[in-house]
Amino acid sequence: MKTLTFVEELMRAKESGYAIGAFNIFNYLSARAVIRAAQKMNQSVILQTSTQTVKRFGPLEIGTMLRQLAWNASVNVVIHLDHCQNVDMAKACIDAGWDSVMFDGSHHTLEDNIKLCREVVSYAHSRGVFVEGELGRIAGVEDDIAVDESSATQVGLEESLYFVKESGVDALAPAIGTAHGVYKGKPNINFALVEDLRKAMDTPIVIHGGTGLGNETFRRLIKAGGSKINVSTAIKHAYIDGCKEYFSANPDKIDPIDFDQFLNCKISDTTIEHMEIFHGE
Ligand code: 13P
Repeated sequence: MKTLTFVEELMRAKESGYAIGAFNIFNYLSARAVIRAAQKMNQSVILQTSTQTVKRFGPLEIGTMLRQLAWNASVNVVIHLDHCQNVDMAKACIDAGWDSVMFDGSHHTLEDNIKLCREVVSYAHSRGVFVEGELGRIAGVEDDIAVDESSATQVGLEESLYFVKESGVDALAPAIGTAHGVYKGKPNINFALVEDLRKAMDTPIVIHGGTGLGNETFRRLIKAGGSKINVSTAIKHAYIDGCKEYFSANPDKIDPIDFDQFLNCKISDTTIEHMEIFHGE
């Protein structure tokens, strides 16, 4: 089912005081499990693909598969490309039917980030597709993008407003101290920046590095103004840990459907746990 667009979903979340969950999927099983969770919750969801996943299947193959799953779902499913650093790949996914793309030019200078985002925005908007931009560098590893602690940067209010205005992006992912992957200590999160940004602009704010933040942090971030929260590592863990658990409990079982179903439940449960927090339940 297709109802609201990427921006409409984020604006609705912003106005209603919740966050839409954006979950990184990497194959048919994980995509289906996230949709199943959203259907159980009767809430919209964003299915994200990393560029590594797109490279593995090719934009057409995975795009067609995701569009079909979204079409058959009983809730609104938005298909989003996460952390794309390559303009040609962003355009290929736009052509293959993604609803929105994140262009991550955060490793460039501010002006180059703006210039590249503008190129993607112009291509995307003329095709009814939306763009998320990143400012500042978010620490951690997200598939093939690794940013070590020393290269991570946070951003300021004026710079963020300038970036949004000049680049024309539809959603902003500012580096606020969250990180991709598993947190080693307590992250030092700039909640005040999220709040100041929410007050100063209409553009919705995206929070990266959702895995391991915990209920209280999620609630504070949503209250401050986070409208989309990304979760990737927790989904990967549900899948891989689920595989290990299944085979240690059933070492001699040769039943792929049962195995798939077990993993489906693991990923769905993880998705639901996050969605419940994001929707204030
Ligand atoms: P985690 O892997 O920490 O959940 O971060 C996900 C993310 O921000 C994807 O862009």
